[in-house]
Order: sequence, then C-alpha cells, then structure tokens
Amino acid sequence: MSKKRIAILISGRGSNMQALIEAARAPDYPAEIALVISNRPQAPGLELARAAGVQAVAIDHRQYTTRPAFEARLHQTLVDARIDLICNAGFMRLLTGGFVDRWLDRHLNIHPSLLPAFPGLDTHQRAIDEGVRFTGCTVHFLRLEMDTGPIVAQAAVEVRTDDTADTLAARVLEAEHQLYPHALRLVASGKARVENHAVVYDGPFNHQPTQYSPGRGPTA
Ligand code: GRF
Repeated sequence: MSKKRIAILISGRGSNMQALIEAARAPDYPAEIALVISNRPQAPGLELARAAGVQAVAIDHRQYTTRPAFEARLHQTLVDARIDLICNAGFMRLLTGGFVDRWLDRHLNIHPSLLPAFPGLDTHQRAIDEGVRFTGCTVHFLRLEMDTGPIVAQAAVEVRTDDTADTLAARVLEAEHQLYPHALRLVASGKARVENHAVVYDGPFNHQPTQYSPGRGPTA
C-alpha cells in the first residue's frame, strides 16, 4: 500500500511535528511527511522541518483580510502537494466550517488533556486546580467546535501531588511525542477510521492493567 502524504500544520515550537517526522523515517511507517505549513513565519518549527529535509512554508494569516481567504490559500497549497491527511500540531488558528468540511475525517489534532476534559487553553493548570489524579493527551479527528471530534487515541499521565503546570506539561509532552506517531500510524494504515461519528478499529491491541494515582503500597 502506498504511503499517505501528510501535511503538518504548526504555529510555533514544533516538537510534535518533529516526533512525527522522526517516526515517519521508519520504512514500514504508513505515512510520509510531505509538507509543513505554519501560519506564523517566525515559527521555530519551520527551520526544524527544513533541517530534517522536509519542505516547509509559511502562510501568514495576517496577509489575508478574511479567514476564508487564508483558508482558500491553505487548501490550495494542500491540494497542490497532493496531501491525503492533515495533522495539526500546535496550530493556533481556528478554522471555519468551509475548511473543516473539505478535510472532514482527513484531519487530526493533538490536545494536551484527556478530552472531553479541559478543552481550550491552560489545560495543565486547570487539571491541577481540579485535583484530577490523571490527565494526558488526545489525538482526535478535527471538528468545527474546538477540541472536539472522534477520538483516535489517548495517553494517560499521572498528576503528581507536587506538580506545577510546567512539570506536568513536560510529562504530558513526552507522552504526546509517543502518542501522535502511534495515532497517525493507526489512521494512515486504515486500522482506525470514523464510522457514525466514532472511531472503529481493526485490532488486536495490547492492554494494560489498571493504574492508580496516588500509587498503592508502601512506596506510595
Ligand atoms: C502541544 O502541547 C499540543 O498538544 C498543543 O500545543 C502544543 C504544541 O507543542 N496543541 P509543539 O509545537 O508540538 O512543541
């Protein structure tokens, strides 16, 4: 089966983008990273992508007077590059229904919480403030409403009693870097797909025993 052609949309640092680029180097990976697009010309991720040998372009949203005009350029760039699937990775621009519909079920996003908990910004501080003992990250198909859509995969991360938003963010980010390549592999290979608004899978998968936080036993 031929590899799916992926475009990654970024706005900044690009560490999830790098994780996807790294994973896609494996010969058996079902996707290739064909293009990186940033809506911010200064995004550090653009240079990182080029250094990794991936074509990377800026489409500066400030150069367009309306969202649909910006999105028309984005769409054409994706079509010209024969993109099959889009992966948002820290892309900080809301998209309108026109664009979302055109890429429906061909567009993934990663969010640093266990959705549907904590959509939006500031997820780690909110998780700490709520006292949840697990948070994590989610890869989902993109829908119009921010941080919603059929969930492809999640990773749970313990919230430790001495965590700050920064220490928690760092631990979740490590999990993101594992989760996104895993989720993209599932989607690009056809092992995870949307049916009736939810994701269905061709298994089998490894399952893990229940985890506790705080941990049980003498070292807890
Ligand atoms: C990640 O935490 C991602 O989940 C969120 O924005 C952050 C982007 O980080 N949507 P990076 O640019 O991938 O390093």
